[in-house]
Amino acid sequence: MKERTLIVYYSQAVGNTKKIAEKIQRATGADIFKIDTVIPYEGTSEELTTQGQQEVDRCYKPELKVSHINLDMYDRFIIGTPVWWYSMAPAMRTFLASNDWTGKTIVPFITSGGSPGHAIDDIKNICRGAVFEKDKSIQFDSIELNEQITTDEEIEKWILSLI
Ligand SMILES: Cc1cc2nc3c(=O)[nH]c(=O)nc-3n(C[C@H](O)[C@H](O)[C@H](O)COP(=O)(O)O)c2cc1C
Repeated sequence: MKERTLIVYYSQAVGNTKKIAEKIQRATGADIFKIDTVIPYEGTSEELTTQGQQEVDRCYKPELKVSHINLDMYDRFIIGTPVWWYSMAPAMRTFLASNDWTGKTIVPFITSGGSPGHAIDDIKNICRGAVFEKDKSIQFDSIELNEQITTDEEIEKWILSLI
């Protein structure tokens, strides 16, 4: 039986993670799901950076519009998050902690400004019982945030390995 795949992503600052998630979706034809917080992040990018730091430091788990999904419908999950303060974005922490990943395959990918820290390890630690494969760290610039540094070629090669 063909493997059923769901792409789950969170994207906030400039849409980098969304861009990659949609690229994967176009190539694989997989279902796609964007997670979102009940309370939106507002304010300047400086305020977001400060709030984000406070949230990451205390492993805060913001409430999501939808946090629980029926995992039974899928075998493999391609999970994408921006890096916030060397870890995953808090919204992704909520999502991963709200579901039982036992026996599932997870392909984690992260987008960052070049300092991914321990984001992938943190994802692996939350999703106990899952099998991990083909994790990918994708770099954007750290000033304007939206210039892709990892080459298209490298990203496309990774996406082809997921088909
Ligand atoms: C609150 C916050 C914290 C961030 N922390 C880091 C970090 O620790 N390391 C890093 O390389 N980039 C960091 N960034 C940059 C983002 O990871 C990067 O721009 C990402 O691609 C944004 O994805 P998005 O547009 O999908 O939200 C941070 C961005 C924000 C908003």
